[in-house]
Amino acid sequence: MTLTTSSANCPEITTNVADLPCETCDSGRTLSARGFCCRDFRSTLGCFATGVTVVTALDPDGEPIGLTISSFNSVSLDPPLILWSLSLGSPMLESFRSASHYSVNVLAADQQNLSDRFASRSNEHFADLPQRSGLGGAPLIEGCCAWFECSNEAHYPGGDHLIFVGHVERFAQGEAASPLIFHSSRYRQLAPPRD
Ligand SMILES: Cc1cc2nc3c(=O)[nH]c(=O)nc-3n(C[C@H](O)[C@H](O)[C@H](O)COP(=O)(O)O)c2cc1C
Repeated sequence: MTLTTSSANCPEITTNVADLPCETCDSGRTLSARGFCCRDFRSTLGCFATGVTVVTALDPDGEPIGLTISSFNSVSLDPPLILWSLSLGSPMLESFRSASHYSVNVLAADQQNLSDRFASRSNEHFADLPQRSGLGGAPLIEGCCAWFECSNEAHYPGGDHLIFVGHVERFAQGEAASPLIFHSSRYRQLAPPRD
């Protein structure tokens, strides 16, 4: 079966999935393999601790957009490449796909409120937010641990997500040393380093 609902706003992607309901939970999701519980899969993925970022850009009308992203990772040192993935169901998908640049803002330990804010469907994401304009106008949020300003280099199909590969044109570290951590669906803080 061709899944058209979540990929309808992304012309690059046609996702084929078998029409199987999850056998062990009532999430209503369809899955590509039997005996595979999506809730278990999600919670097991959560065993992998990540940092938390807010990826920002300008939409085609020049309005700032952004959302909380933990799928950020490094790809290559030379050329300098990073990646992150965005749900095909995101209303921001087309705007991010067509943006010339985006900024990856690496949240600091005291910015959990920003993670919550940018994970919500609010229209007020940028209200009263100390920020400056980065490459392509993509907002750089003050107080972060680090920033990566990227040109929108490539996109790859990734199931129900679109994988973005960005070419890092500029990067910087902030004064905030300690990052926000996400693990098992909860925010955490780093313990002091071991000697
Ligand atoms: C810590 C955290 C990390 C997230 N990481 C991602 C991500 O990597 N990719 C993604 O598409 N959505 C991610 N999200 C979800 C989005 O930020 C946002 O909440 C979601 O797109 C809105 O979902 P809704 O439209 O179903 O309300 C993350 C949310 C949180 C709280």
